[in-house]
Amino acid sequence: MKILNGAALAKKIKSVLAIEIEYLMKKNGRAPKLCIVLVGDDPASASYVKSKQKSCNEIGILCDLNILPYSTSQKELLTLIETLNNDPDVDGILVQLPLPKHIDQNAILHTIDYKKDVDGLHPMNVGLLNQSDDAIIPCTPKGILSLLRAEDIPITGKHCVVIGRSNLVGKPMAQLMLRENASVTVCHSKTRDLPYLTRQGEILIIAIGHPNLVNADMLKEGAVVVDVGINNVDGKLVGDIYNSIDLTNIEKKAAAITPVPGGVGPMTIASLMENVVEIYKRRVISD
Ligand code: GUN
Repeated sequence: MKILNGAALAKKIKSVLAIEIEYLMKKNGRAPKLCIVLVGDDPASASYVKSKQKSCNEIGILCDLNILPYSTSQKELLTLIETLNNDPDVDGILVQLPLPKHIDQNAILHTIDYKKDVDGLHPMNVGLLNQSDDAIIPCTPKGILSLLRAEDIPITGKHCVVIGRSNLVGKPMAQLMLRENASVTVCHSKTRDLPYLTRQGEILIIAIGHPNLVNADMLKEGAVVVDVGINNVDGKLVGDIYNSIDLTNIEKKAAAITPVPGGVGPMTIASLMENVVEIYKRRVISD
């Protein structure tokens, strides 16, 4: 079974971006700038945001981090987003999810200028992706596709089974694989007979957020398995399937798998960096 090394590819993507950013900075007189907004002190979110900030620093993207208290009102957050929308020096805006329960997530995501929407979650970008047009693509699905392509994994005509239907991963992933000419099945918590469907997945993308719900018995022989899960089990990072108790059997059955850590996670961040640079270039050209 092949291990799909997302960490190595992410490093390569970022080092190429660093050279491009140096060139763009000389040409345009300014570096790309990302503004990250974090509301509250959820430790997982804080850790993801720190990784994003670190990657920006490594490759020459300016990164402003706005940390707001959990008690921030929706109105206050909307006001900050409007300010960032109107700031000509800000290329990308990222509001880390999830938001506190008293804030309407969609109201926030719909307010971000879609041209600065590095997450690709604004309805305009969702629509553009569905029309196979020039969308900003959500970072995790984009990173997964880059990894599959870099590993020369054929997608056209394959049956891709996606478990999970979130706006961040499952839905855009399905759209992206459809665009790549796969036949796509999306499974979720209400799906009847999940194993029947997962056993048909030549490419199986697991984005559930719970370890050990999928086991070797549920895989198709020779499947390419993409594990999006990042779960903390007794202080150890494990995937939704990788590192599960069944890993020995999975190794015998799957053709390839993304490890956790070191698979999809670093690719998500590399894709975020790509999206910031892409948006910067679009904005500079339209100036
Ligand atoms: N929370 C978990 N993953 C993500 C992501 O890719 N973007 C945002 N904004 N929040 C997240």
